[in-house]
Amino acid sequence: MVEEVLNLSRTSSPSVVGLAPQRLTEVKVGTEERLPMQNTEFARVLGGGVVPGSLVLIGGDPGIGKSTLLLQVSKEVAVSGPVLYVSGEESVAQIKSRALRVSNDGHPAENLYLATETDVDRVIGQIESVSPRLAIIDSIQTVQAGDIASTAGSISQVRECALRLQAVAKSSGVAIFLVGHVTKEGAIAGPRVLEHLVDTVLYLEGDPYHSYRLLRSVKNRYGATTEVGVFKMGSSGMVEVANPSEAFLAERRSDAPGSAIAVTMEGSRPLLVEVQGLTSPTSFGHPRRTANGVDTNRLLIITAVLTRRVGIQLSDQDIFVNVVGGLQVKEPAADLALAAAIASSARDRALPPDLALIGEIGLSGELRRVPQLEPRLREAVKLGFSSVVLPKRAEERADLPSELKLHEMAGLSEALEFALQS
Ligand SMILES: Nc1ncnc2c1ncn2[C@@H]1O[C@H](COP(=O)(O)OP(=O)(O)OP(=O)(O)O)[C@@H](O)[C@H]1O
Ligand SMILES: [Mg+2]
Repeated sequence: MVEEVLNLSRTSSPSVVGLAPQRLTEVKVGTEERLPMQNTEFARVLGGGVVPGSLVLIGGDPGIGKSTLLLQVSKEVAVSGPVLYVSGEESVAQIKSRALRVSNDGHPAENLYLATETDVDRVIGQIESVSPRLAIIDSIQTVQAGDIASTAGSISQVRECALRLQAVAKSSGVAIFLVGHVTKEGAIAGPRVLEHLVDTVLYLEGDPYHSYRLLRSVKNRYGATTEVGVFKMGSSGMVEVANPSEAFLAERRSDAPGSAIAVTMEGSRPLLVEVQGLTSPTSFGHPRRTANGVDTNRLLIITAVLTRRVGIQLSDQDIFVNVVGGLQVKEPAADLALAAAIASSARDRALPPDLALIGEIGLSGELRRVPQLEPRLREAVKLGFSSVVLPKRAEERADLPSELKLHEMAGLSEALEFALQS
């Protein structure tokens, strides 16, 4: 139960100002411009760049790099116009020292204004006096409206502050980024209403023990929500990873049993990842199944299919599965690679180094088709793979790359037999 203090002076939603109804054909739209920036990964996730007047919420675990990324974006946008960075968590000296650390392509960032402020009305005053193109509020949980009795970070404070900032964004055309903290359960702290209120919700995620960070959009009024930006966290801030597959496969030992390559899709971008499997005899009565980077339930299903449909004895084996690079693979198209990694370790035979595997596994041991086959195969070609095991296709398609040997298999057992015999 959370106490919510009612605010009597209600502010109405600012994008709905009291205008008479207009005909759709008469509504004027400007050409949708985007703020210029060099960070193409960041722009891609937003659907092409920051839209003036938009309100963007960016969430992520503590210390994952939200402030770092937004400071870098601020510096880039500041090249072409003023940017205001308001922090309620750090002093300007702290922000400055981070700004000195993050990579800077020789731009002096003269137009970047820093402020430490927690009162939302004073923040709005600063936005009005600087009139920036982009304002960053780090974080929405630290700002508060003085006329609301509850503490900063409470539901009514967060909602009210976001509403006031939205009003400023819509009326002045300033793009505003709100940083949001994430609760233990993974939701952006504060109410879900915040996600409904803003135009775009981004999540920065990644394994704190690995340097890769994925920026994902879960809601976007200005673009597709499937796009993912890949960054690498380093001492000079977040560096864009232009070719993530290459990075994720860099340390692969291709002659080792238990390593299989899956071709997954992250948004519109294909990504080759290495799935590792290890089976080892159980020393206690109950065999363990440990999954890192894939869903444990998926691992259990695939283990059962391997036992029943392929005849690999796994009931006396512990099974460990890992996706290299700290990546989370949710797509069923990686099933076949997962099964191949386990089978390869169980049989102690390595898969061919230039083989990639694509396919979803059904409970009767059949291989099911996956969407967007063409971009997946093109990426595999680009990374030097020469053959792919994939499910049987419904029709012949001429647009698939001819450089690849395509081995179409109807079932898991024949796919594994093929992959492990060579
Ligand atoms: N000198 C450095 N070299 C490399 N990495 C650093 C350095 N200083 C900080 N970092 C990294 O930056 C991270 C902190 O980044 P940042 O402050 O942007 O995170 P945040 O998401 O804003 O965190 P918070 O939720 O606490 O505001 C640290 O966890 C650390 O990994
Ligand atoms: Mg921060």
